[in-house]
Amino acid sequence: MITGRTRVLGVIGYPVEHTASPVMHNAAIAKLGLDYVYIACRVAPEGLPAALQAMRALNLCGLNVTVPHKQAVMALLDEVSPEARAIGAVNTVVNREGRLVGHNTDAFGVIESLRRDGGMVELPPRVALLGAGGAARAILYALLARAEIEQIKLLNRSLPRAHALAAAMGGGARVHVGGLDGGRALDLTGVGLLINATSVGMHPVPNASPLPAGSGLEPSALVLDIVYNPLHTRLMQQAEAAGARTLNGLGMLVCQGARAFEIWTGQWPPVDTMLAAALESFALAARTHT
Ligand SMILES: NC(=O)c1ccc[n+]([C@@H]2O[C@H](COP(=O)([O-])OP(=O)(O)OC[C@H]3O[C@@H](n4cnc5c(N)ncnc54)[C@H](OP(=O)(O)O)[C@@H]3O)[C@@H](O)[C@H]2O)c1
Repeated sequence: MITGRTRVLGVIGYPVEHTASPVMHNAAIAKLGLDYVYIACRVAPEGLPAALQAMRALNLCGLNVTVPHKQAVMALLDEVSPEARAIGAVNTVVNREGRLVGHNTDAFGVIESLRRDGGMVELPPRVALLGAGGAARAILYALLARAEIEQIKLLNRSLPRAHALAAAMGGGARVHVGGLDGGRALDLTGVGLLINATSVGMHPVPNASPLPAGSGLEPSALVLDIVYNPLHTRLMQQAEAAGARTLNGLGMLVCQGARAFEIWTGQWPPVDTMLAAALESFALAARTHT
C-alpha cells in the first residue's frame, strides 16, 4: 500500500513507455516488503533541468536515467561518482538529503551478468568488444579494470569513433582498434569472450548480425549480446552454430538495475525476482503486439 511514508523511485527517459524497469524494481520492492514505489516519467530533453529540480523539490529518493539523458544529466548533479565520470554517463541518481549524486551501474551490470549468468569469475585474456557507442563506453571501462585481460579488440563501423573511445578510456596498448564494415570476416583467434555492444540485431531488424560470416569464433568462447529485444538474436544463433556459449543482454539489464536498487535502498535485491518480472513483461509486450 502506498502511504505518506512511501519513498518514490523512478526512471526518466524519452520515450520511456517500453521500459522494463518499473516492473523489475516493483517486483523486488514487493518481494522485500519495502515501502517504496517505482514509476516511469517521460521527460523531453528540454524538460531535464526541471525534472532534476523536481527530484529535489519532491524529495524523490532515486532515479534511473535512460536515453537520451545519460550525458546531459551530469551537469545538473551535485556530485558524480569517479566511475560515472570516467565513463562519461550517469544512469542512476540518488538523492542524499537534497544532494543529487550520479552513478553508472552499467559497468557493474556487465561484469555481474558474466559472473552470474555466464559463470565467468575470471575473464579470458583476449576479449573482443563490438561497438563504440554509449554502452560500449561502460563495457570498455569495466573490461580495462580487469587486470587478467591482456588484449581487447575494439571493433566498430566508424573507426574514428572507436579510436576516440580507446583514447578516452586510456586503454593504451591493451586496446587494439579495428573496423567492423559488415563484409570482411574478423580474426577472432584466441578470443575467449565476445561482447556485442552495437545495436545491430535489435528490434525492428532482428535478422541482422554484427558478426560477418566466416569470422572464426572459438567454440570455447562465450558470446554476450547485450541486445535483449529479441532475447535470442541472430548473433547468438551464429555463435551457437559455432559451438560457443551465449548470453543475451537481459542479465546485464537486470544486474545494472540491481546495483541501482542497492544504491537507493541499501539492500541487494532478489535478482531472480527482477529477472522473472522482466521476462514476464517482455512476454506480455510480445503478445500485445501480435
Ligand atoms: N543489456 C543492457 O543492459 C543494455 C544497456 C545499454 C544498451 N543496451 C543495448 O546496446 C545497444 C547499443 O546501445 P547504445 O546506447 O550504445 O547505442 P549507441 O550509443 O547509439 O551506439 C550504437 C552502436 O551500434 C553501432 N551500429 C549501429 N548501427 C550499425 C550498423 N548498421 N552496422 C554496424 N554498427 C552499427 C554504432 O556504430 P557507429 O559508431 O559506427 O555508428 C555504435 O557502435 C542497443 O541495442 C541497446 O538496447 C543494452
